[in-house]
Amino acid sequence: MEPTSIILFGATGDLAKRKIYPALYNLYIEQKLPASFSLIGLGRREWSDEFFQAQVEKSLNEFSRRPADPEVVKSFVQAFRYSVLNISHKEDYIELLNLVEQREAELGISSNRLFYLSVGPEFFEPIAANIQESGLGSTAGWKRLVIEKPFGHDLQSARDLNHKLSEAFTEEEIYRIDHYLGKPMVQRLETLHQSNPIMKALWNNRYISNVQITANETVGVEERASYYDHVGAVRDMFQNHMLQLLMMMAIQLPYNSTTEKVGLKKKHIMESIQPLQKQTVGASVIRGQYAEGNIQGKSVNGYAAEPGVAENTMNDTFIAAKLQIDDFFWRGVPFYIRTGKRMKEKSTRIVIEFKEPSGQANVVNGSKPNLLVIEMSPDQSMTLQLNASDPQHKGEFKPVHIDLSPDREDLAEAYENLIHDALHGDPTFFAHWDEVELSWAWVQPILDAFQENLLPLHLYPAGSYGPTESDKMLADEGHHWWFDQPADQQTEDAIEAPLAVNANL
Ligand code: BG6
Repeated sequence: MEPTSIILFGATGDLAKRKIYPALYNLYIEQKLPASFSLIGLGRREWSDEFFQAQVEKSLNEFSRRPADPEVVKSFVQAFRYSVLNISHKEDYIELLNLVEQREAELGISSNRLFYLSVGPEFFEPIAANIQESGLGSTAGWKRLVIEKPFGHDLQSARDLNHKLSEAFTEEEIYRIDHYLGKPMVQRLETLHQSNPIMKALWNNRYISNVQITANETVGVEERASYYDHVGAVRDMFQNHMLQLLMMMAIQLPYNSTTEKVGLKKKHIMESIQPLQKQTVGASVIRGQYAEGNIQGKSVNGYAAEPGVAENTMNDTFIAAKLQIDDFFWRGVPFYIRTGKRMKEKSTRIVIEFKEPSGQANVVNGSKPNLLVIEMSPDQSMTLQLNASDPQHKGEFKPVHIDLSPDREDLAEAYENLIHDALHGDPTFFAHWDEVELSWAWVQPILDAFQENLLPLHLYPAGSYGPTESDKMLADEGHHWWFDQPADQQTEDAIEAPLAVNANL
């Protein structure tokens, strides 16, 4: 890997502490960082290098998935330096350039610079412009810009932001993080249908009845009301994470795919989703907000009573939608998507329900639809549910579960995968501008309809599965959300001894 300087804006912030330092540390242990690398942390606080290194160490003790070994940590943090930077002070960037060049000279490394903006989106533009103006962006080697969501607030603001950023960085140099794309099970989706002819053959409307993508959380708005109350579930989760999951699920890739192919195919999916009209959004979108309720035995406030939330708020903390991809492979297969806060349990999963042979549910002899269940969080697993004859009841069926899950120890954190790819210059699992723009364009009528209150805001009790209207949306088409039933019924479906097979993933 080429020697690299990582220039981290927002080095004193929460994301750096919880995700970025632990990810770098784990990459370091696995020898997946460049042999020579320098990290310069930037923030407004007056920190010394030593204090910064101690903070990094603290964050590793708290958040690293591998226990932090004091000896290893000691050599790891050698690469870390700190500099005070006020984002709008041009002279600070000149000082930063001097420091970056000094470190490059000390380490004898060429100027490959990765600018990681772990800061609020309002700072993306000024930082990018100052990188350009100060000469920090004039490198002999490569330069890359890593940014986090939110990328814009709606279609127009996203376009404006992209226009500004493109004055300092080309599209190939911009790495937009959507951390869902870094999740190991999402990354495995690509390989699942690409390298398994069985899956590939089934990956279409001939065999698939419907697809369900869920990202339920038990947490509420927490301390983020000032952000969340202007954003809602539609911007916070749906426009980015959920639509990325949809693209990754629906993508059809040739065996020897390339990053460009992945990008083109994802773009094709987004272009093929039937567009919505503002006036009729309510026909396929359910908007919800949590009311007071019970989460795991603890009573919790409704959203409107959370600190920092505007009086009479109409903000969405839940959204469910039905999407149709109008192309050769997926025409006629509903994709149901839902995400919400203060739900019954934390679960991020994709369920692919296959069609019954006769086209109708065969409940008489106990057979159940074939399902492929991809759990992304908190569990990480992939299970195929098939029917087998029930030895106890002649002539009846009983589902067996084939475990396609990877080994636990193979599962890196999302940020490890993403930072590694950004250092390597592999943009496959980053959001390309085309996808971001098309996602905002598709979501825009929903934003407008919400803004103008053209559809009801359904309250749902905290600790539930969201508004009942979301269940009805599926029931109207003869479907139901899988695995929503109470825990005691779920065990009825379970199989005592899952049949393990080797998965070619
Ligand atoms: C973030 C959202 O992007 O994703 C949060 O801003 C949300 O509101 C989080 O809680 C969920 O991520 P994960 O990985 O826990 O499913």
